[in-house]
Amino acid sequence: MIYILDTADLEAIKIANEFYPIEGVTTNPSIIAREKCDFKQRLLDIRNIIGKDKMLCVQTTSKVAEDIVKEAIALRDLVGGEFYIKVPIGEAGLKACMMLKKENIGVLMTAIFTPQQALLAAKAGAKLVAPYVNRLDMVNADGVGVVADIVATFENYGVDCKCLAASFKNVQQVNDVALAGCHYSTISLDILKALAKHPLTDVAVDGFDKDWNNVYGDKTILDLI
Ligand code: G3P
Repeated sequence: MIYILDTADLEAIKIANEFYPIEGVTTNPSIIAREKCDFKQRLLDIRNIIGKDKMLCVQTTSKVAEDIVKEAIALRDLVGGEFYIKVPIGEAGLKACMMLKKENIGVLMTAIFTPQQALLAAKAGAKLVAPYVNRLDMVNADGVGVVADIVATFENYGVDCKCLAASFKNVQQVNDVALAGCHYSTISLDILKALAKHPLTDVAVDGFDKDWNNVYGDKTILDLI
């Protein structure tokens, strides 16, 4: 599974990009607005941190297909590199998706809550779909189950579209979508850090340090070879 960071917080992006194997950053209007930042400069800063090869996903705010396409082209020209326009599912979004395919701009169709929304997005030419796992769980609608159904539906029809699950609140949800064969997860830095943690890992590493220090003191490997 490919891990993506779901934030516009530059410090979080710097940490994730340096210490974790993330392959991109997703944003949406809420995530950007939370930062109360200069929108254009923030996108350029994110691109500067992650480089051209990692995906940067920026969401449209337009409600008309032609305007969504104009925004997508302008954003692509601004941030360059591996760029995806995030477009909420709906009539304007589906029309824009079909138009953007001709412009060769990748679409991440977002705000997906059912497998049929996902299949429609894929048929319209979206490269990625983003189902919201925790928001489904919060209404007792089985977010992981929806992700599993999307993955199975895409496999059934051999569509050229991947599932990028979003809206996670815990490690268990991330693990469950991984088991369902989900291709990407976009998560917060807190969850990314939690994926790497286990109390027994800390105990094991403390034991290695203690045993080493008992014999070699504060000498490092490079001191001894
Ligand atoms: O990318 C969509 C995702 O950010 C939604 O997450 O936490 O607002 O449900 P959340």
